[in-house]
Amino acid sequence: MPIKRSFSEDSPPSEEKKASPVSSEEQAKKKASPAKEKKTSPPVEKKPSLVSSEEQAGENYEEGIRPSSLNEYIGQKSLKEVLTIAITAAKNRGESLDHLLLYGPPGLGKTTLSLILATQMGVNCKITAAPALERPRDITGLLLSLEPGDILFIDEIHRLNRVTEELLYPAMEDYRLDITIGKGQGAKIRSLSLPKFTLIGATTKIGSLTSPLRDRFGLIQRLNYYEVDELTFIIQRTAKIFNTPITETGATAIAVRSRGTPRIANRLFKRVRDYAQVEKITPISQELVSKALDILNIDPKGLDQTDRLVLKTIIDQFQGGPVGLDAVAAATGEDTKTIEEVYEPYLLQIGYLNRTPRGRIVTPAAYKHLAALD
Ligand code: ADE
Repeated sequence: MPIKRSFSEDSPPSEEKKASPVSSEEQAKKKASPAKEKKTSPPVEKKPSLVSSEEQAGENYEEGIRPSSLNEYIGQKSLKEVLTIAITAAKNRGESLDHLLLYGPPGLGKTTLSLILATQMGVNCKITAAPALERPRDITGLLLSLEPGDILFIDEIHRLNRVTEELLYPAMEDYRLDITIGKGQGAKIRSLSLPKFTLIGATTKIGSLTSPLRDRFGLIQRLNYYEVDELTFIIQRTAKIFNTPITETGATAIAVRSRGTPRIANRLFKRVRDYAQVEKITPISQELVSKALDILNIDPKGLDQTDRLVLKTIIDQFQGGPVGLDAVAAATGEDTKTIEEVYEPYLLQIGYLNRTPRGRIVTPAAYKHLAALD
């Protein structure tokens, strides 16, 4: 199953860096069939940061350890049910899947699910991200390259520019591409027909999507943070792929510090595996996990230095809040967007931070957690 990416694995797209929206055949071939590559060659990792946005993380982290079918995919039970029904019905009718919008915090498996859907539908999946679709020709080129039934995955879909978004409307609704030829008064619109395809949009900010775009998705599904037992299974599965023995309590010790996020669970596992290898200890036990993650400053709740800095800054400099996001960003030296999209969601989820109309407030649970660490 060819998986085509519009940006290099090493350098995920950003607005500053202009990424080409369509991968070369060479790149596409290299990415072929994660299922087949998976067990033979454990992936080489490149990015050491433990908490990062989808964009910062790149996708190579999951390469080789992604599940390749819904049966193998752990967690997100109700979402899997919805998708199983959608796949079965579409296949029975011999149709493409409805357009699907996946939303939720980064690292929960939106890309993985899209690749699985493509595999199960027996179609290609072309992967891109909104910042790579800067010019109209970026999206038109991609749309014109689609074959019947193909999946086009657009990450960070809330960041599409207006022109690109408007080109998508008729493409999604009528499988039609309206191209403007010429400029000014003499400009003409030519309509080209497109094969029936499936657009999968992924976003961490569903509220930032325009309603015309949101309304064109037949299925809108949320991914939720994972439970500790689900993350434990994911870590055990990854450990098996890497041929690294781990006890169940060892896997759980990593799971509880993984912020409900498989991407973080897999990264922490790899750091722990490094430590176990250097210390020549096997299997990975609960005790070893604690030692390895203490060195990395990951606390028992999975908070890293920046999480704790955000909380401590609000407590020490703003009397626990309420305080505005910009003030927190300035006081911590972190970027506003990073705090809002990477750090806050989990702190809100575990009830360490509250968002109120007057600003952010640190909760008593967070005070208690920080006091226990001192
Ligand atoms: N690796 C990352 N996410 C996963 C999931 N949900 N199930 C199995 N393996 C995974």
